[in-house]
Amino acid sequence: MARKSKKRGTEKTRGKKPSGSDASRLPPPASRAFTKAWEGRFTEATDPEVERFTSSFSFDRRLYRYDIQGSIAHTEALGRAGLLTERERDTLVRGLKEIEAEIAAEGAQIQAAPADEDIHMHIERRLVEKVGEVGGKLHTGRSRNDQVALDLRLYLREETRTVAEQIRSVQRALVAQAESNIDTILPGYTHLQRAQPISLAHYLLAYYEMLERDRGRLLDSLKRLDQMPLGAGALAGNSFGIDRLAVARALGFSEVTANSLDTVSDRDLVVEFLSAASILMMHLSRWAEDWILWASSEFRFIDLPDRFCTGSSMMPQKKNPDVLELIRGKTGRVYGSLLTLLTLLKGLPLSYNRDLQEDKEPLFNATDTVKSALRLMADLVRQVSFKRERMLESTREGFLLATDLADYLVFKGLPFRQAHKVIGKIVRQSLAEGRPMEGWTLAELQAFSPLFQEDVFDCFSLAGSLQRKGGTGGTSPQSIEAEIRKIKRKLKV
Ligand code: ARG
Repeated sequence: MARKSKKRGTEKTRGKKPSGSDASRLPPPASRAFTKAWEGRFTEATDPEVERFTSSFSFDRRLYRYDIQGSIAHTEALGRAGLLTERERDTLVRGLKEIEAEIAAEGAQIQAAPADEDIHMHIERRLVEKVGEVGGKLHTGRSRNDQVALDLRLYLREETRTVAEQIRSVQRALVAQAESNIDTILPGYTHLQRAQPISLAHYLLAYYEMLERDRGRLLDSLKRLDQMPLGAGALAGNSFGIDRLAVARALGFSEVTANSLDTVSDRDLVVEFLSAASILMMHLSRWAEDWILWASSEFRFIDLPDRFCTGSSMMPQKKNPDVLELIRGKTGRVYGSLLTLLTLLKGLPLSYNRDLQEDKEPLFNATDTVKSALRLMADLVRQVSFKRERMLESTREGFLLATDLADYLVFKGLPFRQAHKVIGKIVRQSLAEGRPMEGWTLAELQAFSPLFQEDVFDCFSLAGSLQRKGGTGGTSPQSIEAEIRKIKRKLKV
């Protein structure tokens, strides 16, 4: 208001009417601390609702460190290209470093001006406020389009490595538990029906393997990530002969992206990360499901530490496996993020479109979810207590050794299909008479097949059954020990 009346006063003294030129129609940006970077082209201020709708600051401020890292490398490249004097370059770098420290100190309190729109504009505004007009040179040969592409790569590179390391922690915990449970026997299931006896170590190492593939998928994406986007400009490249390779080196990339249109519109890497994260969460979710069952009274195979569970507000006896349930539940968000990205991209014409701004929240949300799930799972594996007695007890019912008996007949020369049939009949008869298979006498067994001899009773040992599953990938103690040795060499533990 003050500004308006002052303006009117000036006009009066000059005795002139407003000229009616574009410039005079510019809205008085009295309520705006900062006018837009693009205000030259515009005749009115952005609608505040539009500002809120289009702003990404509330979430992309998480990228500030990467953004500043990129800006410093870019400033140095501008210096080398002769577009900044040494002094200007140093001023910009110093300003950027100060802003980084300030934002780090502000933390969650960081405040954007309404016009800032995103973290990129926010940092640039602060730079200009700090170092003056020379701050306006930072954006030479650069667009927020290649800038955000860089920030995402830097973010993904760091988070991918962190997640890969977290996977290793879970794997280490699994291997440690496996080592002390080679001789712990429990039923292995198919169709959630008791199938054959297995070693608990074997079970645990199954998840080790899944995680190893997950880790491999994540780390593999780093190869494709290793190209530096800056220099692509808004879409067509830059006019300033910026040495992109030098920028790449400064930022720890081994090469530069090959096509500027692709560079500013590509989000494959986000999709790739989210795919790998979705598969990882799918594995964690299956595991969580297993252990939710195992913690139930029906199974009672594990006891979860109290600090990982919650009670019921009404039923005093309850101890619920919430962490596991939420790992299973939160898997949905990670899948959702993947679907969001795929949907976001499928109809986008080349090159950059503002839709791409919607890539960040799902990515951040998925990353946070995966990281906390892994952190908790590592802890849980270390803390869980296995109810070995109960596991063993569960192997008593369910004819877990039926396949071993069929194998016995095969060793005696019977084709497997016939052996299967003979044992099937014994199982049926046992069920009908309500007696366990090991209750049959030799003579009774011989009525089913003359191939049965005294040594058939060796088949009724669980340890013997495991022992026979030798060779790579089986559940015999030797196979598992060999596997653990191999893994420990790999993990250097
Ligand atoms: N905040 C945008 C994003 O996250 C980057 C800005 C590009 N904006 C633009 N109008 N070209 O994608």
